[in-house]
Amino acid sequence: MLLKIGSINIDPGLALAPMAGVADHPFRVLVKEQGCPLVYSEMISAKGLVYSNRRNRALLHFTERERPIGFQLFGSDPEILAEGARIIESYEPDFIDLNFGCPTPKIVRNGDGGALMRNPALCGEIFRKVSTAVSCPVTVKIRTGWDENNINATEVALLAEENGVKVVTVHGRTVKQGYQGEADWRMVKIVKENLTIPVIGNGDIDSPQKAEEMINYSRCDGIMVGRAARGNPWIFRAILAWLQERKELEAPGAEDIYEMVLRHFKLLSDFKGEKIAAREMRRHAAWYVRGLKGASAARQQLVRVKTDEELKAIMKELLRLNSS
Ligand SMILES: Cc1cc2nc3c(=O)[nH]c(=O)nc-3n(C[C@H](O)[C@H](O)[C@H](O)COP(=O)(O)O)c2cc1C
Repeated sequence: MLLKIGSINIDPGLALAPMAGVADHPFRVLVKEQGCPLVYSEMISAKGLVYSNRRNRALLHFTERERPIGFQLFGSDPEILAEGARIIESYEPDFIDLNFGCPTPKIVRNGDGGALMRNPALCGEIFRKVSTAVSCPVTVKIRTGWDENNINATEVALLAEENGVKVVTVHGRTVKQGYQGEADWRMVKIVKENLTIPVIGNGDIDSPQKAEEMINYSRCDGIMVGRAARGNPWIFRAILAWLQERKELEAPGAEDIYEMVLRHFKLLSDFKGEKIAAREMRRHAAWYVRGLKGASAARQQLVRVKTDEELKAIMKELLRLNSS
């Protein structure tokens, strides 16, 4: 499953989804170490980039080992998005992705993210302005439509293709659905059938078998994993082993989880400082410990974690509980 983003070849086309509050530099390093061929940044505000002097350096930071990497932009004003894309390009990511799917009320109220699905004429203008503003490839991530009565992913995807966009990712839900219900992969398949540029399928891929199902069903050129990667960077290695060697890898054990949590915290701490790292690690750790004996008691302690030592102590206790 070769995915081409302009002249960049990604084989197989397997990606970590852009996820605000999750897909930051430390987490991307961890998924890369597990073999993930492609990563996206958290979404970055075009307005923030253009109008703020104090650019969010944490959002824009990446290292060579994260390549190929796409930085994701959100906004709705074509000129500001084009200017934001130019600023992002100066940081030299491999490509720029446009967010046409975020359902968060604050974003949609501003006409950004998923709200754009309601305005195909504006979509076309954004695609044209942004793709001509930069020399790196521009891609877009869309939903199936605004709501079930307004399914228009094919129309928006065709506009993308006609206006210089190199890849379209389809998340098989409407904006109104948010993250509820099951993802509808039919629209991934239909968009793929109607486009000549590559299509990435997204929504509910949470196992190697589901990854294979999405590929076989939709014939997409790439797949993207979001929520199932939280607290589980190993999922990429597992998907690769299944797709390439038909091998089922064993799930990580308590010791693997212990080591990954501490390593994740170390990367976060080095990058954002111990205080912020501890706050952010509470969520990540709660995802990592899912399924372990004693996880719910550990979670109650994790929400108060402030230091490396506290985290280590909770994780050590979990390791003890799960090794006997
Ligand atoms: C916490 C969280 C943050 C997200 N942030 C973004 C984002 O910044 N940009 C984006 O395009 N999608 C974002 N998404 C949507 C995911 O990229 C993905 O489309 C969605 O979760 C469906 O895929 P999944 O079923 O594999 O999780 C986010 C999802 C979650 C759960």
